[in-house]
Amino acid sequence: MNITAIYGSPRKDGNTDLLLNAFLKEFENPDHIISRFYLRKMSISPCIECEKCYTTGTCVLDDDMKALYPKFKNSDIVVLSSPVFFYGLNALAKAMVDRSQCCWSQKYLLNQKHSETKPKGVFLTVGGSKGKRNFEGIILTVRYFFDALDIDFTNQLLVKEIDQKGAIKNHPTALDDACNLAKELLRS
Ligand SMILES: Cc1cc2nc3c(=O)[nH]c(=O)nc-3n(C[C@H](O)[C@H](O)[C@H](O)COP(=O)(O)O)c2cc1C
Repeated sequence: MNITAIYGSPRKDGNTDLLLNAFLKEFENPDHIISRFYLRKMSISPCIECEKCYTTGTCVLDDDMKALYPKFKNSDIVVLSSPVFFYGLNALAKAMVDRSQCCWSQKYLLNQKHSETKPKGVFLTVGGSKGKRNFEGIILTVRYFFDALDIDFTNQLLVKEIDQKGAIKNHPTALDDACNLAKELLRS
């Protein structure tokens, strides 16, 4: 399988990095190709709302987002990890999501089919709070991000009350849950 893994956190080796690494471990063998993207190392401008993509289907901005667009179409699994920041995605991940507006245009304005087979979409997130509604905003954004890309949002892992860098290692189940999620996808 081709797996596109997007590390959304600004914090290297932080909780969502570790969660995504645990997920990917199951795919680290010759049967699979993993493409890793670290948003903190990439240059991705915010959407400038020029609306050019509404007629062309392509984004006018020339930056590292160009490497991601083909991956959205040609992967079997697209997995995104991001911490919860103010009840939503952090800014790096949100900039990437906003730049998928050209994919939304292709699908909803220009009626272009994205790919024959839909990739599966997986979202992994960690938040420090224990608030009941903590993940509502972020899940809505991710749902409509995957929808714009014609990706089937199949799985999510939401981990709460983890704040300090690396604290997820002490969580009773989170890293195993990520590993089991990967195994589930391998079986399906
Ligand atoms: C700017 C900022 C905003 C945050 N907002 C939230 C929030 O709204 N809800 C929450 O549960 N945690 C919030 N957090 C905590 C992070 O989600 C938490 O520390 C997480 O474990 C960080 O993951 P990372 O190590 O992968 O970056 C916030 C942290 C920062 C720095």
